[in-house]
Amino acid sequence: MIRVALPKGRLGERAYEALAAAGYACPSILEKNRKLIFEDPDQTVRYFWAKPSDVSIYVERGAADVGIVGRDILLEYRPEVYELLDLKLGRCRMCVAGPEDFYDDPDRLLRVATKFPHIAAEYYESRSRDIDIIRLNGSIELAPIVGLSDVIVDLVETGKTLAENHLTPLETIAEISARFICGKVSYKFNHSEILRMRDALEKNL
Ligand code: PRP
Repeated sequence: MIRVALPKGRLGERAYEALAAAGYACPSILEKNRKLIFEDPDQTVRYFWAKPSDVSIYVERGAADVGIVGRDILLEYRPEVYELLDLKLGRCRMCVAGPEDFYDDPDRLLRVATKFPHIAAEYYESRSRDIDIIRLNGSIELAPIVGLSDVIVDLVETGKTLAENHLTPLETIAEISARFICGKVSYKFNHSEILRMRDALEKNL
């Protein structure tokens, strides 16, 4: 049986659809309930719903063989996993965003609010720009509006949240999409099954 960690939410539902189309259907997962683990009747696959930022932890530590995770999580947490396929789902960009009239005064420490402190730190380090990172957990767009930060580092998909809050993307840090990952130990002992799943997913891209 192959154990698959899926990110709870819309991306996870789309990832499950891709897996079902690739031959790994598990109809019970579509039941509307609060269960977290589902197995198909033939017991070839077991799905878990995990918090999106935790998927790579389950995979890295071998509690799941494979998982679907946004590239943002891989860039932020750098888990020790293999990235086997770009599923091209959930496409968005990691951006620096701020007020439309933002001017970066080099004489001042730049205050950056974000859920992705490592990505932000690495990006500004590469530009030799000193920053003060303000780690938030959500609704990041609020920070520059109320004066908590100068800019934000966050995901931009449609750009609607920024536009409706009078903010604009200023720089793109990375292109993001969902990735099919596997654990190093699982790969060693289970690679033919894992590669079969990877190849079946790739055929339907
Ligand atoms: C994400 C992201 C932005 C928004 C971008 O937030 O952090 O706020 O989506 O999408 P858009 O460009 O299509 O408007 P999410 O909904 O995950 O919630 P969060 O505020 O808790 O991070």
